[in-house]
Parts: sequence; C-alpha cells; structure tokens
Amino acid sequence: MAQKVMFTETVLRDANQSLIATRLPYEQFEAVLADLDDCGYYSLEVWGGATFDSCLRYLDEDPWERLRNIKKICKKTKLQMLLRGQNLLGYKHYPDDVVRTFVQRSVENGIDVIRIFDALNDLRNLEVSVNETIKRGAVAQVAISYTTSPVHSVDSYIKQCKEIENMGATALCIKDMAGVLSPAEAYELVKGIKGNSKLQLHVHTHMTTGLGFMTYLKSVEAGADVIDTAISCFSGGTSQPSTETMLYALDQLGYTHDLDMAKLKKVNDFFKPVRDKVLVDGTLNPLMMATDADALNYKIPGGMLSNLVSQLKSANKLDQLNAVLEETPRVRKEMGYPPLVTPLSQMVGVQAATNVLVGERYKNISKEIVAYIKGEYGHPPGEIDPELIKRVLGDDKPYTGRYAETLAPGMEQGKKDAGPLARNVDDVLSYIVFPQIAEKFFESRQKKEENKVTYTIEKVG
Ligand code: CO
Repeated sequence: MAQKVMFTETVLRDANQSLIATRLPYEQFEAVLADLDDCGYYSLEVWGGATFDSCLRYLDEDPWERLRNIKKICKKTKLQMLLRGQNLLGYKHYPDDVVRTFVQRSVENGIDVIRIFDALNDLRNLEVSVNETIKRGAVAQVAISYTTSPVHSVDSYIKQCKEIENMGATALCIKDMAGVLSPAEAYELVKGIKGNSKLQLHVHTHMTTGLGFMTYLKSVEAGADVIDTAISCFSGGTSQPSTETMLYALDQLGYTHDLDMAKLKKVNDFFKPVRDKVLVDGTLNPLMMATDADALNYKIPGGMLSNLVSQLKSANKLDQLNAVLEETPRVRKEMGYPPLVTPLSQMVGVQAATNVLVGERYKNISKEIVAYIKGEYGHPPGEIDPELIKRVLGDDKPYTGRYAETLAPGMEQGKKDAGPLARNVDDVLSYIVFPQIAEKFFESRQKKEENKVTYTIEKVG
C-alpha cells in the first residue's frame, strides 16, 4: 500500500511569526478560514508561540477570542498550538496549577493538538502539560528540539523518544527551529525513531538555509507521517517549505494524501495580496524570504545570528563579529550544549557577546545564565563547566529537582494581581503570562467599550 503523507499548515502561526513577526490581525485572515478548513490538512497551526504575545502587545486582540473565532469556522480540521512546556508561552517556569489551567482552557477554547517542547529537552518540564493535555482529550505531541553536539546522537534521540512514549504522549515531533537538519541526518533520525516507536512522527523545519524540501523528502522516505509546510506565498526563507511544492513532488512520487490542490490555490490566491501589502508597508522584509546558508557554517540559528549582528551594530562593535562567533560555541559547550532555541539562543548569544566586548570571559554574567546554572531551567544535555558553576554558586550546589516543584501555586495570586479588569479565567491567564501588556490590553478594551456606549447614546440622542 502506498505510504500516506499528512500536512500541517503553518501560515497562521509559524510562517506568520517567522516572516512578519505575527502581525496579521484576525480580520485580515477571517475570510480564508473556511477554505483552509476545506483543504484536507492534518492540522492548522494557529495559536501559541508568539501569537498570544503579539495579539495582546501589538494587535489589541484578545488571543482567546481569536482562538474561539477560528474554531467557529474551522470545524473539520484539527487546530494546533505550540507550547513551551512548563514555560507556557513565556520564558520562565510557571507553577503546575497555572500550567494545568492554561492547557485546560486552551483545549476548551478550541485547541485539538498541543505541540509541547522544552528548550533543554528536559522531559520533567513537559510532564505536567502532557498529562493535562491527555486528560482534556487533546493530542499531546511532544517535540524534541533538534541540535547537534558531542552529547547528542541518533541514539540519544531514540532513547528520549522512548521516554516520551512512556510518558503517555500521543505523537512525536522533530523540531528543527533553525533549519539546520540536513536530509541525511533527517533520514537517519526518522528511520531510527520510527523503528523504535509506534507514535505518529511529525517533522518541523524552516527554509532558512535552503535544506527544507530535501530534508522533508528524505524524512518522508524514512517514514515520517506529517510535515509542516506553509502556503507558497508565505513560505521560504525563515518560514516553512511551500505546501503546494511539497505536495506536487510527493504526489508524483506516488505518496497518497488528503490535500486538494484546487483548494490550496484558492488559499494561496487569498494570501497573495496580503503578502503584497506587508511587503509594501515594510512589515515583511524581503530578506526574510531569502536563503542564508551561514547557519550551516556557524552552527547557530539564523535568527540568533541576526540578533548578534544588530546587538554589535548598536554597540558600534560590528568588527568584533568574528570573535563573537568563535566565542558562541565555547559558551554553549560550557553551558552543557543546550539546543540553541528560545530562550537559550538569546542567553548564550548575549553571554558570548558580553565575554568578547568586556574583554574578560564571564566578568559579567547575566541573571538568566545565573538562574540556568542554578538549575532553574532544568538539566542541561551535557555537563556545565565545573569552574563556571563554582564561580557562580561558590560552594552551593545546583538545584537538581524539577524546578516547578519549588513554586507556590499561582492561579489565586494571579487573580488577585490581575484586578477587576480581568473578567474571567482566560484574562487571568493572559495576565499571569504577560502581566504588563495584558493590563494595557484590559484597559484599552474597557475604554473602547465605554466609547462605544457613549457613541451609541449620542447617536440615539
Ligand atoms: Co518553527
């Protein structure tokens, strides 16, 4: 029997986030939702990641309401979100009751699949969200952040996938946030994981370095079940490989699928003028759609590279770029080889730049790196340099338990702190995750409603 390939469409989440920093308001894509729902995707990735932050901070939109609105229209296709385990959508660890309530409300508001990952691949940071996802009847798809280092290997990933399966997860994902997973590595990895696990396997990559199509083709040949793609006019560069292109190639090779090419064209025709508009108004920098193979040489993600460049530029120290690029892998090694994914990519990058710019290594250490060394992010994949531990902790030992266990419950306190402008549990969760911007959003919502009332009275009067 021919092998079947399924697709997850990322245009509303990752493609949007990677190309235009998630700046598309709900009204601008509402009209395409019914068609998207009709195409035959396995799932639509529509929420989580930066969508939540961007809705509150820039779009003056209630992220929960966005999700409910999408769900009202998309009734056939599973809605998917990205969740950073115990960090939810933020950068610190939240107490278990907050994590459970967040997962519960995400499912109740319309999410069917939660892709859960931890920057360090420390599975203890996923336990609670995976458990709650399953309890609420959604698919718990656990993603491993892909990276290469002397402590990572196909065998170490296979072993980890077994542990994930034992945790009760319903699906697996190889998450290549930097677009550095090569076709050969993908083949070996997918083959290894599929040979040792019965779970559905998703592969997620970006086109940043240009490897994406080849990586997906080899992944599918090795038995991957689902690939993440973006509708063509929002694909490429820092976004995903194009949906239609991948489908065209796989269809000719004899793979079966549920996608309807004519319906995909309708979706792409809808997004073309949207893309043209963001190109003209500058929201979309055309460079984001270009191929940049530098990440393959430097072994650091493209986003991290551009952050380093702009950080050095603003300090007027761009001439130090090479020194910083040489320092980055050294810092990463001393940190125990964390995958360079948010927030670790920023933390390692900033520390490497500081080490170079200050002229003395670890003279200044950021408070995030201190917390990391204390064990507040979880187990690093390798060993943290003992000298560095000593420098930061003196004679103290790092915390080795599951960090969230040290945190007091947060929902009741969050409710108190959020105050009367928070109207329900969803508002309280928005507040706990992004306190300042949620507060601003609540105030602006209140004002808008008061203005509306005045306006109606005036009109009537
Ligand atoms: Co991604």
